[in-house]
Amino acid sequence: MTDFNQLYRKAVLTVAGQKTIENLVRARGWGMAQRFVAGEGPDTAIAAVQELARDGILANLDLLGEFIESPEQCTAFADNVLKVIEAAHAAGVTPYVSIKLSSVGQGKTVNGEDLGLTNARRIIGRATGYGGFVCLDMEDHPRVEQTLAQFRTLVGEYGHDHVGTVLQSYLYRSEADRASLDDLKPNLRIVKGAYLEPETVAMPVKADVDAAYRQLVYAHMKAGNYVNVATHDESIVEDVKMFALAHGIAKDAYEFQMLYGIRRDLQKSLAAAGYRVRAYIPYGRDWYPYFSRRIAERPANVMFVLRGMLKG
Ligand code: FDA
Repeated sequence: MTDFNQLYRKAVLTVAGQKTIENLVRARGWGMAQRFVAGEGPDTAIAAVQELARDGILANLDLLGEFIESPEQCTAFADNVLKVIEAAHAAGVTPYVSIKLSSVGQGKTVNGEDLGLTNARRIIGRATGYGGFVCLDMEDHPRVEQTLAQFRTLVGEYGHDHVGTVLQSYLYRSEADRASLDDLKPNLRIVKGAYLEPETVAMPVKADVDAAYRQLVYAHMKAGNYVNVATHDESIVEDVKMFALAHGIAKDAYEFQMLYGIRRDLQKSLAAAGYRVRAYIPYGRDWYPYFSRRIAERPANVMFVLRGMLKG
């Protein structure tokens, strides 16, 4: 049976997909989006990194942009990611970025090779040169297979200290994917999953997604691999802390990750207690899809948007 949370998420993502709603929110919503997005350029993003550093919170920079159409635009997008890597390095920050392979050309063949892979190599190569790290975000389910295959290739080339990826606990396949990647000793971010997915591939009941989340984190920890526990779910955060303690897993074998602007209190308190915490900092002009997914996660957020729209 589908529960309320899933129905709510489905409704918001369906409405957000309507062109008229998108145009309205794009025209009037930037002020509200700034609660979740750190400005439009690398300068404002780096300023956010520096502000979080004052509270002992690490950063993960994410240039917004999804499903970009032409190969030229994809390569231009990758060039902009290189710019933020350079800006971070120049500011004395070890570059840590996330990319969506769709935005750098995954699925487009140029010179006989997948453009997403070509551009990912440029980005990871540059970050690696500065001792940095690149995480391949996970998108909607038709991309999972290719993203994991490309992840395998890239770990082979750059090592698990410089490239990681994401598993989504709502997908039935994720535990099998986790086990199949084990030989790479991969750095994995575990999330619940943010896309509108059919019940044939994703669990429709939130309690199942939450239970699968814990199992993925515990299995990856027990295998001795680095885990990025990416959630704002406080009960999961507490359970993971207890699990690590009970199994003698050191605080530097995992980290908590949360989104910019969400549960800042929890981010600060975990960092103050000596846990490694990293905030995911999105920036850029293409903020609408990211913003829609954040609204879809929490009923209170839709009120925040409606109030903002009514105020004009
Ligand atoms: P859940 O949705 O159960 O929320 C738990 C509690 O957190 C809520 O009760 C509320 O208090 C708070 N909360 C959650 N979302 C909120 C919001 N938007 N506004 C205010 N409060 C909120 N997904 C994906 O498919 N691919 C990816 O690559 C990533 N990457 C990623 C990186 C990082 C660092 C994070 C934290 C998340 C992602 N996600 C993601 C998104 C993820 O799949 C999921 O949609 C969100 O994290 C929300 O789920 P929670 O785990 O926070 O739990």
